[in-house]
Amino acid sequence: MKCKRCGKKAIAHLRAYGIALCEECYPEFYIRLVKRSIKRYGILKENERVLAAVSGGKDSSAMAAVLKELGYDFELLYIDLGIEEYSEESEKAVRDLSGLLDVSLNVLRLRDYGFTISDLRRKWRRKTCSGCGVAKRYIMNRFARENNFNVVATGHTVEDVVSFYLKNIAGGIKIWAEKLLPRNEPFDEKIVTRAKPMFEISERENMLFVLVRNIPFTPVECPYAPSPEWKEIVYDIERKKPGFTKNFIRGLLIEKGEFGEVNYCRICGEVASGDVCAFCKLRMRFEG
Ligand code: AMP
Ligand code: FES
Ligand code: ZN
Repeated sequence: MKCKRCGKKAIAHLRAYGIALCEECYPEFYIRLVKRSIKRYGILKENERVLAAVSGGKDSSAMAAVLKELGYDFELLYIDLGIEEYSEESEKAVRDLSGLLDVSLNVLRLRDYGFTISDLRRKWRRKTCSGCGVAKRYIMNRFARENNFNVVATGHTVEDVVSFYLKNIAGGIKIWAEKLLPRNEPFDEKIVTRAKPMFEISERENMLFVLVRNIPFTPVECPYAPSPEWKEIVYDIERKKPGFTKNFIRGLLIEKGEFGEVNYCRICGEVASGDVCAFCKLRMRFEG
């Protein structure tokens, strides 16, 4: 197969776009894709100070590399969740990424807040991933606000959003709109805007980009990750109907959630839905 742009040997056939590209033309195509998407949905604005949350995985590494290419003013944040080998490998990857891109890296350790995700796993197995999500969001938001960042960017991909939507619909659960939006404006001054620059970009596109450009990432996955059934369903449909995932997300009627009265946690002062925030509730389990 030949590159549609220059005729050299193609490295990837992008069925959703009906084109094949070589290793020089692909990164250009990909960067333009991300740039257009950020603009179309207003995911990031000019002159914002961005905190890019990086996990060491291909998606957030690709995000950081593209933000650099596009000239954004940003720093990296890595949260050490204390998941043994996985966390060690991830930290190595983000340190390499920071060096390659010449962008400052901030590292925060969950154990400094009194527990790790491995502790949580031992104590309360069922809550591992949801508790981990609570901890990550809490630390990202607080660090961003206290250090004057305007927005926290995460590497969520089009498959993350579509599989989340399908899983919830299938379970009869009312959709939590925030997770489906490319950009969430804060409903309170203690909350920092959250953005998903890779909202329309697929995992395969990210993988091709990090491989072609030699961007550091770790293929090691979290040992506690739930089974990826819904993602596999999305890949299956995409295989049979190229373009499905991207069309689906564009067609999603996204409504913003209504937020009620805002409470502040009586322990730490962050935004909470009740008297104590979800993160402090987790933390309390490890006290004494
Ligand atoms: P996940 O929740 O693991 O699917 O990750 C979604 C996004 O959250 C990633 O693309 C990153 O932007 C961010 N993220 C996940 N884990 C970490 C971490 N340990 N430190 C910083 N950001 C993270
Ligand atoms: Fe949070 Fe695996 S990364 S439980
Ligand atoms: Zn709290």
